[in-house]
Amino acid sequence: MIGRRRVTSTSCPPNRMHSKAPGDDREMVAARAAFLERGYYAPLRQALEELVLEASAHLEGPVLLDSGCGEGYYTAGMFRALERAGHRPRAAGIDISKYALRRAAKRLPEGEFAVASAYRLPLADASADLLTNVFSPLSAEEFARVLRPGGTFLYVVPSARHLWEMKQVLYSQPYENPVKETPYTGFSYQRIVPVRYEITLDCPEDIRALFQMTPYCWKTPREGVEALSALKRLTTQVGFDLHVFRRSPA
Ligand SMILES: C[S@@+](CC[C@H](N)C(=O)[O-])C[C@H]1O[C@@H](n2cnc3c(N)ncnc32)[C@H](O)[C@@H]1O
Repeated sequence: MIGRRRVTSTSCPPNRMHSKAPGDDREMVAARAAFLERGYYAPLRQALEELVLEASAHLEGPVLLDSGCGEGYYTAGMFRALERAGHRPRAAGIDISKYALRRAAKRLPEGEFAVASAYRLPLADASADLLTNVFSPLSAEEFARVLRPGGTFLYVVPSARHLWEMKQVLYSQPYENPVKETPYTGFSYQRIVPVRYEITLDCPEDIRALFQMTPYCWKTPREGVEALSALKRLTTQVGFDLHVFRRSPA
């Protein structure tokens, strides 16, 4: 891996700390891959591609790290967009799920993928120009270590009403996602790019796949799951906020 440093152990979230296969399991990974393949989140990928291109304008061979990359849907999109624009990118992805990474490596054979934790990245200091984090754990200190001064960090979080109509089916009293602007040591805030649109899922398989890739999968009462399972069609708003940070000079 890019400027690799020796890694002797990998840290995991507390709930999967002792699992032999931490992170998203085979079923979750397959559900997310199928859902993403249908293009429902293509506008988010497009927005990431545009921001990465903008941040790479003066770089011939930008080095990208996608932390918590999952199956590499966004990693591959950003890499290909950079290639199409005439750059000679290098892309790396880390995730604690080996199932996700197997798919990522197939999706982007040119990429360098490693099973590792975001809290202990297998990269040398200041070795990346771009770092992305899409719906996965944030480790500001590690991100600041591996990103070079002036490098760009893109952090994607759900908006207040992301999947609102699905939540209305699942819960009697749905809550909005908390929206906050958190400053991180070592980074300066540049801007927030909102992505908002609506999707219609017109088969129960896609509705189930979407549900499985959300955190609600773990914490929905049985009645909510049954109500969602009974649906043949679901239209829901989706919303992402892309927080753009610049790594401060050392
Ligand atoms: C919601 S998924 C997002 C995956 C991918 N970024 C996407 O949007 O398609 C969260 C990912 O974070 C991974 N993950 C969870 N804890 C992690 C950690 N401590 N370090 C690295 N990856 C982690 C999971 O295995 C999973 O692939």
